[in-house]
Amino acid sequence: MAGQSPPRLLVTGTSGQVGGELLHTLAPLGTLIAPRRAEMDLADAASVRGFIRETRPDWIVSAGAYTAVDKAESERDLAFAINAEAVAVMGEEAKALGATMLHYSTDYVFNGQGTTPYVESDPTAPLGVYGASKLAGEEALLASGANAFIFRTSWVYGATGKNFLRTILKYAREREELRIVNDQHGAPTWSRDLARMAAHVIRHGEAAATPSNLRGVYHAAGSGETTWAGFAQEAIAQLRQREPAAKLAQVNGIPTVEYPTPAARPANSRLNCGTLEAAFGWKMMDWRESLSNVLPELEAS
Ligand SMILES: NC(=O)c1ccc[n+]([C@@H]2O[C@H](COP(=O)([O-])OP(=O)(O)OC[C@H]3O[C@@H](n4cnc5c(N)ncnc54)[C@H](OP(=O)(O)O)[C@@H]3O)[C@@H](O)[C@H]2O)c1
Repeated sequence: MAGQSPPRLLVTGTSGQVGGELLHTLAPLGTLIAPRRAEMDLADAASVRGFIRETRPDWIVSAGAYTAVDKAESERDLAFAINAEAVAVMGEEAKALGATMLHYSTDYVFNGQGTTPYVESDPTAPLGVYGASKLAGEEALLASGANAFIFRTSWVYGATGKNFLRTILKYAREREELRIVNDQHGAPTWSRDLARMAAHVIRHGEAAATPSNLRGVYHAAGSGETTWAGFAQEAIAQLRQREPAAKLAQVNGIPTVEYPTPAARPANSRLNCGTLEAAFGWKMMDWRESLSNVLPELEAS
């Protein structure tokens, strides 16, 4: 726990979707340390260790990750270096410093069987290298003994970065029909909601309101659920309301077998976020409401 001076917050992955939002959202909470890749390369354990020892943060907010789900199938070592080994080092260093770590993980730690939302204690069984590397990161972080909070999220999107929403809306303007998978179920999660949730948890911690027995894994995905096709349909419907004259594609649902990818995706990505709400009083925003917040920002960008 930090003393009188503002806490030092080390944030990784600030050129990414969640990290970019964290930069803005966490700024009022303390002194931000946001290394570029050249200063702290997550693929290089020595670089991670050295940077943390040099900067001595009170909090490490770990949003940097290897996120190329399909490419990971052929880049196993790199995915594990970034998603597992770097996280292990951050955990060790956080433990040594007495720092608290917030870390993002993924629904892809599950195999997607079943039709009910996963709870944190459900058995993990990743379908691909990305999920396996993120799970290894979770396990290493918990084993480090650091005061750590792991937030598994799903289907992250926002007004910036590379994400499904931006891709779909671009194609919606260019094409007449979009064929999108309709048998994978989950919830889109707004990158800003994930950043705000982190700020909320840090405020709790700085107010000494976070008992150490709250450390562990939490599910943190948008409220509600849909499919990728449902997400696209809703996005296009909301865009149509904003731009009645726009010519936008029609969405037709297809089964996953008609859209093969190098890495298999879980059919059930639903995450039950009740534990997060009970522990921190934080309810993730409904995905449709998030979408209505993001669309105007996309137009402005
Ligand atoms: N995106 C999703 O749908 C999704 C779903 C579930 C969970 N998550 C998790 O949520 C978290 C945030 O994801 P996101 O969507 O914000 O990711 P993102 O937009 O892909 O950003 C990843 C960030 O990690 C950085 N990074 C990658 N390799 C690095 C390296 N070797 N050294 C330093 N930085 C490196 C990237 O920097 P560069 O710009 O230099 O590459 C970028 O800033 C991650 O833990 C991810 O696993 C994401």
